[in-house]
Formats: sequence, structure tokens, C-alpha cells
Amino acid sequence: MFAVAIDGPAGAGKSSVAKAAAKELGFLYVDTGAIYRTIALYMLENGIAPTDPAAVEAALPQVKVGLAHTAEGQKMSLNGEDVTSRIRTEEVSAATSAVAAVPAVRAYLLGLQRDLARDNNVLMDGRDIGTVVLPDAQLKVFLTASPEERARRRTAQLAESGQPADYKQILEEIKARDHQDSTRAAAPLKPAPDSVLLDTSGLSFEGSVAALVGLVRERQ
Ligand code: DC
Repeated sequence: MFAVAIDGPAGAGKSSVAKAAAKELGFLYVDTGAIYRTIALYMLENGIAPTDPAAVEAALPQVKVGLAHTAEGQKMSLNGEDVTSRIRTEEVSAATSAVAAVPAVRAYLLGLQRDLARDNNVLMDGRDIGTVVLPDAQLKVFLTASPEERARRRTAQLAESGQPADYKQILEEIKARDHQDSTRAAAPLKPAPDSVLLDTSGLSFEGSVAALVGLVRERQ
């Protein structure tokens, strides 16, 4: 099996770039952030504070996360119910950052992620895929863009869908999430020493996909 680990900060375009590259390569695209988001949604819906590690850990046995890969992409279920779109709110994003810092949550999800890479050629996207989940991946990519570029893209995306978008506020939120994800004790966001840096700040979407596909083909 061939595994590509893709890590990087929020809003760098990792998911869309990795998804398109996986399609071109015929690999399974695994969005691990969606798995963490599903756990966070459970906590929010059951009145468990995402910032209370002991309460989050105690609730884990009640959380059954399901993943299905369909023609429309990766679908997530929580205790049998489809939550694919419900995990994409800002409220869930904020809760996920806290839940993902709980070591018991990370340990709970490790086996699930490794099993997917054992059975399929994968392009797996997350924060600790190259460093913790798949340390033997054939290719590790740290995909990033400057905070300003990420804030610009997010502002444009929100404006396009008719939602209020304040560039300055979005930039502050991006910086705060970067800080939380990269300074937490459990599996902080950082490039694996043997990763290739792919900075998409000056690249178009198509250019980013081509660069990623090119990196995989070089090693295949
Ligand atoms: O990629 P995303 O924005 O959907 O990730 C949501 C949150 O989950 C983000 O705060 C980082 C965290 N996460 C993580 O800690 N480890 C992963 N492998 C994937 C996501």
C-alpha cells in the first residue's frame, strides 16, 4: 500500500487539494479532521464541555463514529445518524480544536486511521498524520499558506456564499487556532522532519493539485 500523509494548518486548502489529487491518483481520500469534528459534535449535543478533558474521555465509549466513502465524498455518521453537514459549523470548529487536544481522543482514533491506511492506498489529511498516525508513509507533505492568504481565501469563500465576512476577525481566528493546534501537548501540529513543504500561497488551486500529484508520482 502507498500512503501519503498531508498535514498543515486550518484553511490552507488541504482538504480540497488532497481530495482532487486523490481522485486523479485513484487513492482513497481520508479527512481525519471530520472524525475529530464528529466527536466534538457529540460533546456539544450532549452538554459535555469540550474543554473538560475528563468529561470528554468518560463520554468516548458512547461515541460510535462511522466513515463511508461514496461518490460524493467522505460521509460521517454519529451513532448511526448522518452528520456530514452538521460538523461544518463554526461552533463545531471551535469545539473540535479543544476536543482534539485530549490525549484519550487521539488514542481512541489512532487504530481507526491506521486501519484505513492498511487496507487502501490513501491520501490522509490531518495535523499529525506524518508525525504520529503514519510515521512510515511513503510521502509526507506539509501543506500550508500564510495566515493572511488563508484569511483572504476564507473571506472570499464566505462572501461568495452570502455570509458576513470580516477579514480582520477571520485572520485573528486563524492565528488563534494555529496557536492552539501547534502548542498543545498532545500531537501538536508540526512538519515531520522528513516532510516536503508545499506552500500554496502563490499557487492556484489547479497548481496546488498538480504539485501534490507530481510529488506522489515522483515516489511511486
Ligand atoms: O482539518 P479540520 O479543520 O477539519 O480539523 C478540525 C480540528 O481538528 C482542528 O482544530 C485540528 C484538529 N485535528 C487534529 O488535531 N488532528 C487531525 N488529524 C485532524 C484534525
